Order: sequence, then C-alpha cells, then structure tokens
Amino acid sequence: MNSFAHGPTCWTLSAFAVAAVCAAPLLFAQSRTAPNPQLASKALNARVDNLLKQMTLDEKLGQLAQFSAGEATGPDASNLKYEELAAKGEVGSFLNVTGAEATNRYQRLAVEKSRLHIPILFGQDVIHGHRTVFPAPLALAASWDLAAIETVARLSAVEARADGIRWAFSPMVDIARDPRWGRIVESAGEDPYLGSAMARAWIKGYQQDDLSKPDSVAACVKHFAAYGAVVAGRDYNSVDMSEIMLRQVYLEPYRAAVEAGAATLMSSFNTLNGVPASANPFLLTQILRKEWGFDGFVVSDWGAVSELLNHGVGTDGPAVARKAIEAGVDMDMEGGLYGTVLAAQVRAGKIPEAVVDEAVRRVLRVKFALGLFDHPYTAETPAYEATPERRAAARKVAGETFVLLKNDPVEGLGRLLPLPSAAKKVALIGPLADNQREMLGAWAGVGDAKNAVTLKTALAERLGGRLLYSRGCELLSGEDAKVLRQADSNAPSADGDSAPIPDDAKTIAEAVERAKQADVAILALGEPADWMEGEAASRTTLGFTGAQQRLLEAVSATGKPVILIVVAGRPLELKWAAAHVPAILEAWSPGIEAGHAIADALFGDVNPSGKLPASLPRAVGQEPLYYAQLPTGRPAHGDLSHLPWSIADRFLSRYMDEENSALFPFGWGLSYTRFSYSQPTASRAEVPVRELLASGHNSVATVGVDVKNTGSVAGTEVVQLYIRNTAASVSQPVRELKGFARVTLAPGETKHVEFPLGFDELSFYNSEIERTVEPTTYKIWVGGSSLAAAETELKAVE
Ligand code: NOJ
Repeated sequence: MNSFAHGPTCWTLSAFAVAAVCAAPLLFAQSRTAPNPQLASKALNARVDNLLKQMTLDEKLGQLAQFSAGEATGPDASNLKYEELAAKGEVGSFLNVTGAEATNRYQRLAVEKSRLHIPILFGQDVIHGHRTVFPAPLALAASWDLAAIETVARLSAVEARADGIRWAFSPMVDIARDPRWGRIVESAGEDPYLGSAMARAWIKGYQQDDLSKPDSVAACVKHFAAYGAVVAGRDYNSVDMSEIMLRQVYLEPYRAAVEAGAATLMSSFNTLNGVPASANPFLLTQILRKEWGFDGFVVSDWGAVSELLNHGVGTDGPAVARKAIEAGVDMDMEGGLYGTVLAAQVRAGKIPEAVVDEAVRRVLRVKFALGLFDHPYTAETPAYEATPERRAAARKVAGETFVLLKNDPVEGLGRLLPLPSAAKKVALIGPLADNQREMLGAWAGVGDAKNAVTLKTALAERLGGRLLYSRGCELLSGEDAKVLRQADSNAPSADGDSAPIPDDAKTIAEAVERAKQADVAILALGEPADWMEGEAASRTTLGFTGAQQRLLEAVSATGKPVILIVVAGRPLELKWAAAHVPAILEAWSPGIEAGHAIADALFGDVNPSGKLPASLPRAVGQEPLYYAQLPTGRPAHGDLSHLPWSIADRFLSRYMDEENSALFPFGWGLSYTRFSYSQPTASRAEVPVRELLASGHNSVATVGVDVKNTGSVAGTEVVQLYIRNTAASVSQPVRELKGFARVTLAPGETKHVEFPLGFDELSFYNSEIERTVEPTTYKIWVGGSSLAAAETELKAVE
C-alpha cells in the first residue's frame, strides 16, 4: 500500500506553542531549521564567500543574468553575442540550450576563457519528461501516486543531464481552480493538500536529497506566487486575495516544496494585491527567506523584471530592476536589465553592493551544491532513443492517470468498458484518434512527436481489420484550423500546409457512416495542445473545440453505443456527453505511450484508478469551481435543476439556470470493480487543544476504515479523507482533503487504512495570520471522492 500522511514542516514545535499561549507573532527566522542542508553547509558557503571576494561588480552582475540562447519560450527573445558573454563571465545561466555538445561549447568558454572560470548553469523547461514525454502534470496528479511522480521526475532528470541540463523549471505548484486558465495543465489541480504532496514528490525525484549526484537536477518551483488565481482565468492577469486564502491554500505547495529542499524558485508574472510578484518583498523576503528559511535562489519568469514597467510600478529600467533585486529576485530571466542597468546604480550608491552580493551568493551556492564547479561538462553520449524500457515506464504511468468518469450499461452489451467481446467491429473517430503531436500535450519540451503512439496505431495492433477509422473533423474550424495546422506541421500525421481545410459537414457525415458499420464507436475528442493548452492558452468556453461537439452528437444519433475518450489539458465541460454518452474516460494529455496506455484501459488490461485533481464543471459560468468552498449563510438545498417553486427556495446561494455542484467532483473516478467502505472510526473522541498545539508534525489521533473490493476484478482505490472544522473563529471550507492512500485490492479482499491527524491536518490561519487550532468539532469523511459519505468526528476541547 502506498499511503501518504503528511510531510514535515520547518517550523518548530515551540513556535506553535508560543503562538497559542501568547498569541504573539511567530519568530520564524529564529526558530527555523535549514530546509536544504546542502545549501546551508558551512564548507560550501566558505567556498562561495571566497569566490565572491575575487569578483568584480560586472562579474557579479553577470551571474545574475540569464538568457535564452536557443528556441524562445517567450516574447522578445534577446539576440546577443552569447559566446562573448560566456567568455567574459557575464552570464550566469542559459536556458533553452539543449544537448551535451551545445552546452559543452558554451561551458568551455565560461570555464576556460573567463577570468574566474565560473561554470554556466543550463536550465530548461523539463515539465513532464524531457525527451521521453510522460502524461501532463495535471494527468500525473490524477494518479495520486507519489511514487509515479518521483519516477517521472527521476527519469526526466537522467535524460536532462545527458543533454547538459542541470536545472529543470519544474514543478509548477500553482493551485489552479479555474480551468479557463490554460496553465492548469501544468499544475496538480485545485487542492493544496494534494498539490503539496505532489510538490514533495517532484522535488525528491529531481534532486534526490543530493544535488551533486551525477543524475540530479535542481528543481525550480514556480510560479511564486498565486499565479493560478489570475482574475477571470486570463493568463498574466492580476491576482487579488486575502492573506488567509494566500497562506492556507495558495502558498501551501510552495512551502512544501521549499521544505523538501527545492534549490530554486521562479517569481511569477502576476501582481498580488497590487504588488507584482517579481518585485514583492512580502513574498520574496518576508515569507520565503525569513519565514521559510529558503537558502536557494529566485529567478524571475521570462521578462518579468522588465514587465514591471507595464505593471506601472516604475518609470524606467533602472527603477524596476532595483525594485526586483531589492525585493529578492536574484536572477533576471531573459530580461537583460540586471546585466545592463544595475551596475551604474550600485556605483552611484543607489543600491548597496551587499544586495548584489547576497543574490550572487545564492546563485553560487546552488552551482556549488550541484557540483558544477567540479564537473562542468557533460559526456557526449549517443543520441536519445525511446527504448522499450522508457516506453514501458511511460505506458505504466499513463495507465494510472486515466479517470473513468462514467460507465453505464447499455442494452444488449452491458457496460462498454472494458470493451465487450460482442463489440466485433469498432469505429474509431475523432481528430485526436491519430495525431501524434497532440498526444504529447503542452510544454512537451524537446519531446519528439515521432515517438508518440496514437490510439489508432494501438487499436490497429489489437483489432486489425475489425477497426474502422474516420477523423470526423478538425480540432478547430476556419481560420483557426489553418493557424493550428501550421503549428502542428512537424507532426508526421498532419496533412501538410497547402491542402484546403476539410469541410466539417462532409467529414462528420463520413464519420457517421463509419459508426453505422460498427458495433461500437470510440470517439477521441478534446482540445488542441498547441494554442489551447498551457501558457498563453486561456479560454472563455470549456467545450470541445471546433466542430467536435457536432461530431459527437451526430455519431450518438446513429444509436451506436459510444465510448468517449477525452484528450485535454483542462477540465472540459462535458454536460451533454454525461447525459448522452454511456462511457467516458478522461485521458488528459497522455504522452508518448498514449495509444497503448488508452488501449490497455479499453481492453481491461489496466483497471482505471485515476481520480480527478480538479472539478469538472457543468457550465463555464460556475468557474472558479472547487470542492473546498467556504460555507455560505444561505446554503442551497433541494432540487437545483429548475427554478425554485417557492420563495423559501429562492433566496439561496444558487444559480437560477444551473446546479451549484460539479458535474464530476474533485476526487471522482470509477473502476471496473467496486469498493465498499466501513464506518470510519476515530481512535479517540476528543483531544485537548493544548495537546494539538504541541503536537507539531506528530499525529494525536487516527481515523481508520476498512475498504473492500466487492467486485470480481482486482483494482486500486484512492481512499480519501476529508475534514470540516465546524466552529472556527474564521469560517473554514465545507470540506478539505487531509489524507489519501492508494490501495490495491484483489476481488473480495479487504484492507484497513489508517489516517493520522495532528496539528498539520487540523490547523488553520486565524485573523492574526497565526496557524492555530481552537475548540471545535471536526467532521470527518472517508471515501472514494470528495462526496465521501461515511462519517465520524473528532472534538478539540479546552
Ligand atoms: C515562461 C513560463 O511562465 C515559465 O513557466 C517558463 O519556465 C519560462 N517561460 C521559461 O521558458
């Protein structure tokens, strides 16, 4: 059983006790322990100081400059003489330079030609795999499998290192509660507890508790902070939220990552309560350094320092660069301001040189910890291959990420999944059934679409002549289809640029004919990864793009049973599908083994075990929609599917044209078997507040439950524990996830699962911004989703 309780925090037990007894502000800086002992090591810091003493101001500022010397991953990329900068020691880091040969070339200039021989740190967007592309991070979160995340990070690190990359711009730990924001695909979804667990697993996989290992890379936790809460889901927009919400929800995964030893962080593009995150001393100095004791360095996001001008917090480059470095941004990514405008200000006494020194120290610390000075080069090994071992790993992980949303029986065939043997002829339809590029998803980095296996390929291997295929329609229509085709043109399955965009009505009619010839139709529908998923890919609608909904309705109208495979980077709105399609599998962006992994689930070789890390809405107007909402004074009740019949049912917190609830809630996911839960029991009825306050990271009680596989095939259930604090001085969410465990059960087998509860799980932030507990009753539910009904309780008493 892979069970997960909670990770350590760097706060001391006495700090909690002080908060409770004296209600005084916590003295975090004094009570903290170093989250990453390597970066805090005296010997390492002595080497750093020794080097720093020898550096000129220009060499120091060079260490704080980062440029993209490869394919741009943002606007206005620089076009500088990178070789010269390297040879003069005036660049600390490059991004987007990939491959041992290319990185070694720059490294030789820095190490052999520059005065102090300081090696360059090569960073890259290694997001869900490097050359082997795994499922997208949101999909990985749907596995709720921490070991799987660690494996993905580990294999990514190994491949990145072979390409000279020592620094991965991952994990993205932004809480994402609004799927209009395209970057939800890079996140672990809506929940801070799940997100924190994922963050720890990513860090462990990348860094292995030892940055200097030959196959470790430094992680870069991004985007600090609260970027996922951009207003209206529009990318790069502003963020406004209470400090309680910030700390209790949005900061939690960053804190977990820092405590797990993350070496670097990336400051985000957004403003937070009016102050840009990339010039925000509250975030970057008070919280990150003083409270959390972070010893690594902060890199800005791409151009985020110069974009401070657009935010209107300074009138010229020197002014905003000063704000950024004084707030705690140590390295300027692809902005060019640090390298060009800081020197004069230091010389004029406007910025104390000590501020620059501190930033340089932080950068050098990470370089030393990585062993970069001792091993600056990368062995020029044979080119990458998608070997059977790599493929097997990608296939296994992908199989755990699929969420079976619905699997209702149909007349004559029973449940459509796993595929019944009576389904002799299968029609595979949809623009995502045979598109290699789309299987990789957004931010697939240097992954090559040629390595991706489509569903058509995988089903043809199993069904041979029993498989019928029709593309059905394009992912987009009209002008958009042309733009997309240009982006997709590297994909071997694309049709080439000159052919006219096919007419949707015609291709849908062809697909309908195909469906009519089959016993069952499998539709692979979703949204395009290019332009509609990831960064700069916000949407105002959440349906299938282009003519896909028409295609779905037309094929369903044939009366043939339909299995819908959703390939998308965000929760889509599936209301029509949920009402009309008997079987729906959420497959996200599955990576290079997409086709095989989906086929494994379709044929029952793999029993789906994924659970939603983000709520699927009924309508886009519900967004941001998440299960851990605060209660309202007028909770809705009764049947919300129509207008209220009486005035008593009217003035409630509800919509007049839609239900409040998610179509498929957080934590939801079916299996080919069924699980039953016993009544959960708490190990004690009450616990004194005093004891809870002193418990720190230890548990004070446990909640146990028996989970049984009542079906006829083996399966894995993600057992989830939720709490509600019913009487706090600050209103608390109606439910909060506070524990989960993946449990594999043979048919008829029962396992007992125990969840520890202590201060970490039961505390909250009060109005004085202290994390505390008060006398209350905690309702506790255990089950297979956020709708879990089996209930117990625990009281915290005076
Ligand atoms: C901008 C993105 O926001 C960030 O996630 C990424 O790491 C950088 N560009 C570098 O490509």
